[in-house]
Amino acid sequence: MEKRLVVAIDGPAGAGKSTVARKVAEALGYLYIDTGAMYRALTLAVLRAGAPVDDAAAVTAVVQRCRVSLAPGPNGNRVFLNGEEVTGEIRTLAVSNAVSQVAAIPAVRQHLVELQRQLARAGGVVMDGRDIGTVVLPNADLKIFLTASLEERARRRYRETQALGHGSNLEEIRKNLEERDRLDSGRATSPLRIAEDAVVIDTTDWSIEQVVTHVLRLCRRRLEACCTE
Ligand code: DC
Repeated sequence: MEKRLVVAIDGPAGAGKSTVARKVAEALGYLYIDTGAMYRALTLAVLRAGAPVDDAAAVTAVVQRCRVSLAPGPNGNRVFLNGEEVTGEIRTLAVSNAVSQVAAIPAVRQHLVELQRQLARAGGVVMDGRDIGTVVLPNADLKIFLTASLEERARRRYRETQALGHGSNLEEIRKNLEERDRLDSGRATSPLRIAEDAVVIDTTDWSIEQVVTHVLRLCRRRLEACCTE
């Protein structure tokens, strides 16, 4: 039977990770796992509970009562919080503004990292996030780090939120991305950084199709190398 790869895709918000990861998974017949959606679901639970996002003990208490699950959907993962579908609600600016603070709390990360590792255990997965190649799946067969300029990433997120029918403002999105870059890269636990063995792709001037084609080529090369190892 053909080996089924574990592919890790990391990078800052708006670099195209989820679209690329989803399309690569589709092309290979693999499972796509959006770990950002998991952090967003827990953040929604914290906001709903009215817990202050900077109070680690209060956030931990909420998160410990939560169960997050994913299912394949037409446009990426469908996301469930204690069985309730929250796929649309986790993309609002309120969640985007709070998620980096919630994701910096060690108990939140512990809660999700174990689940993420279980989902990847059987292979045949493309997982995207911030710490997949560095912390969650350090033995992944292929690690990709996608990046793009802040301006381009803001334009992409703006188009995405417009398409979802959420009211949004380009400048507000740019500020949110800039702040999240700062928090995600600066936190003590599992900060966003490039794994030593990752392939870095700057997607600023690339179309999604170009990036997908390139990543699929890297996957095929990796599969060939696995067969001859
Ligand atoms: O990919 P995204 O923008 O939906 O992710 C939302 C937030 O979740 C992001 O700002 C940081 C956090 N995150 C994380 O800390 N670790 C991951 N593996 C994925 C996301």
